[in-house]
Order: sequence, then C-alpha cells, then structure tokens
Amino acid sequence: MNILIQNGTIVRSDKTFIADIFISDGKIMQIGNSLNLHEKIDKTIDAKGFYIFPGGIDPHVHMYLPTPAGYSSDDFETGSKAALIGGTTTLLDFVTPRKGQSLTEALTLRIEEARNSHCDYSFHVSPIEWTQNTEQEINECIKAGITSFKVYMAYKGAVGLDDTDLKKVLKIVGKAGGLVTIHCELGDEIDILRDQFVAEGKTEPLYHALSRPAILEAQAVQRIVDFAKEANCAIYIVHVSSKESLKIIERAQKSRQKVQAETCPHYLLLDDSKYNGAFIDTVKYVLSPPLRKKEDQESLWKSIQNGVVSTVGTDHCPFNMSQKSIGKNDFRKIPNGAGGVEHRLSLLYTYGVLENRITLNQFVDISSTQAAKIFGLYPQKGEIAFGSDADLVIWNPKTEKTISIKNHLSNCDLEIYEGFKTTGAPEFVFTNGEIVVEKGKTNSESKGFFLKRNL
Ligand code: URP
Ligand code: ZN
Ligand code: ZN
Repeated sequence: MNILIQNGTIVRSDKTFIADIFISDGKIMQIGNSLNLHEKIDKTIDAKGFYIFPGGIDPHVHMYLPTPAGYSSDDFETGSKAALIGGTTTLLDFVTPRKGQSLTEALTLRIEEARNSHCDYSFHVSPIEWTQNTEQEINECIKAGITSFKVYMAYKGAVGLDDTDLKKVLKIVGKAGGLVTIHCELGDEIDILRDQFVAEGKTEPLYHALSRPAILEAQAVQRIVDFAKEANCAIYIVHVSSKESLKIIERAQKSRQKVQAETCPHYLLLDDSKYNGAFIDTVKYVLSPPLRKKEDQESLWKSIQNGVVSTVGTDHCPFNMSQKSIGKNDFRKIPNGAGGVEHRLSLLYTYGVLENRITLNQFVDISSTQAAKIFGLYPQKGEIAFGSDADLVIWNPKTEKTISIKNHLSNCDLEIYEGFKTTGAPEFVFTNGEIVVEKGKTNSESKGFFLKRNL
C-alpha cells in the first residue's frame, strides 16, 4: 500500500516543519516538499492544519496482569485498541514469571498471550527470584531481543526482590550492557506500616496512600542508585512520583551515572486529595506509588522540562470495581493500578503543550522518541525519518473531548480521569503503514508484531 500524506506539520523531537510524507510497504520512504514520486498512490490524505507525530510509545503497561484479584481488565486486544485510539502504536509490557518458572519459558508464553495485540509490542522481563539459572536466562532473553529487565523493591513475598538479589540482577544485566528498570518503594517498611494501620482498624484506601510515603520511595531510589553505581549498570526508574526522588535522580545524573526516569500522567495531574471520601470514590486511585501532593506535580513538570525525567508512561493496569471491592474492608487486598493508555497523548498535549509547560517537540520526545532511544527501538520507532516504520499520528489540534467511562475504550468500569476535558486527538493513526484509526474510530483488524530490541 502506498500512501501520500500532504501538507502536514511534522513534529519531531528536534524540529518542526511542513512537508509531505510518502509511505510504502509499511515504511517512511520520502519526506519533502515536492516529492518525486513514480509509484502509484493508493491513498492521499490532506493533513493541512494537522500535526504529524511519531506513533506514541508507552514504555509501561500491564495488560492481562495476573493478581490475586484476577487479571487486570484489559487484555492485549482491548488494551491495544484503547492505545491506538489515543495515538499510541507501540507498547512495552512485562513478563512476570511464576515462582519456579524460567524467564525464557515465561517470555515465550507471554509473547503468545500478546498475539492479539493491535499495537507492536515488546516486554521488560522480571526476575522475581534468583536461581542458579537466572544469569543464563537473562543472557538468553537478551539474545531473544529483550534488553530491559524489571525489578520490584516493593511487593515483597510476591514479585519483590531483596537487596542481595537486586545486586545480582544489576551485575549480570550491567555486564551484558542491558538496562534494569525498577519499581522503587521500600517493601519491608511499607509492609510494617500497612499491617499497623489495619491492626488499628484503619482499612480505607486513604491508608494505602499513608502506608507508602514519599520518603520510602526516595530511600529506595537512593539505594538502587548506589547499587547500580557499584554494579556499573544503567537504570531506569519507573513511575517516579515525588520531588524527593527527583532530587536524588538529578544528583546521580549530574555525576554522570546512567540513571533515567519515567513519570505517569496521574502523578502530573492528580493529587492525594483523591483519597478523601467514600470507598466507592477513592478506591480507583489505589495505585503504587500513591498520588502525591500538588508540589510534587510541579517538580515533575519541571523535571520533564529540564530533562531529568525522559519519558511519560501510563502504568496502564486497570481493574473493575468488582475487583477493587475485594479490599472493601482491607486496603491491602485492593489490586493496585488504574488505566490510562488511551489518554496519555491527549492529556500531555492539553495540560502540557497547551498550558505552556512543555513544547510540542518535548511532547514528542517524552511520549515517543525517548522511549525508542532508551529501549533499543530507535530509529525504527519513535522517529519520522527515511526508513523508519510508518507509525504515525495525524493529530487534529482542535478536537475537544471529555474523558469518561461512557466513551473510553478500555475494558474497565472505572476511570481516574473522569470529567477531564481534552483538546487535541488523533484524526488518523498508522501502524506499519496501515491506517488503524480514522476520524476517531478504530477501523482495522490490524495485527501488531513482537519487537526484538537492540542493546
Ligand atoms: O499500582 C500499580 N502501579 N500497579 C501496577 C504494578 C506496578 O507497580 O507498576
Ligand atoms: Zn510499579
Ligand atoms: Zn507498573
């Protein structure tokens, strides 16, 4: 299929310019003002007045995540459609093995599970224990195109690692030149606080937040920065939520340590006042780390502006009310997480670009280009350039919407951004040169592909 997109304003992380784009066989084949085309054109789109962004890359989603409260409510089919409608064309999810299962077996099964994804996809693989085979399994994952790993300092007893095992993962991945991504919260200290609150009869969602104070996130960040320095391993701290953590990350970056940071739209736009109220209203905000203070939001925006934070991922992990209600009398049983994959671009555009917190080029950088660079997908993904995959978003800057469970695509009866007004939305979305969203509707049974990544 040959497609010509004319007159669009192309926005890359480094520049903005008006030009035509010629797509053939899923790739960007020409960009320019008077293209010399000899091929037959199957479709021409006039993009005058619209922006053209590289397809969004969400570096942090959990589709169909197994938990004691059941699977997160979007599988790869529903979650990837929600992603596409919002302009995200590539998803980085996780491989979380069962205890005793090898990383490689878990990876094979997870790739199978993601087969119905409409977005291209890859995974961060999580060592959840250290065995005599883990080193070899990590190296096999790298050979299979998985170059990033994920460790949890929280969720002890489930997926969390102790300090000795964290150091082993960092050492082996560092030696191979890979990247370790980390959920930074001190699990043991949190568990003590959780149990204390419940023993005192403090069982509401508010105590989920109070048992996970920002200081325990910051202390975890400091600890992993020190471990990574010792192991000479590059690290990427997921879902950074607090100003205390940002200070530590900035200091490490200034000392030239390879430390990168991600935040999420909910930490930029929602705050801890959401935990005041009845269970039915507060439970949907039970996610980890919890929502912080308004001053943390300001620090996070500043850290995006000055490059301390490189990416904004959603940590998309929705659960239905029936699942969240399992923790009605004990917040420790509430599955952690919320959705957001379909709103990431429109929220960042509306509350970032239009409110002059970030430039259009920064918007592209944090929502696409940086994730491609950090996770070994660049310039195949995250860029509008000759030879890159034709993953593109033709963005109508005038489309106005109100986010609601009534119109979202995610398979979830809860919505943490309910009532948020957005301006700007995709008019067309392309993955690998195929139109997958047209005028706000998914119109294709398109298929996503597993992406092997480079070190
Ligand atoms: O609350 C969250 N974030 N749930 C998903 C798992 C994780 O910690 O990222
Ligand atoms: Zn996490
Ligand atoms: Zn997560």
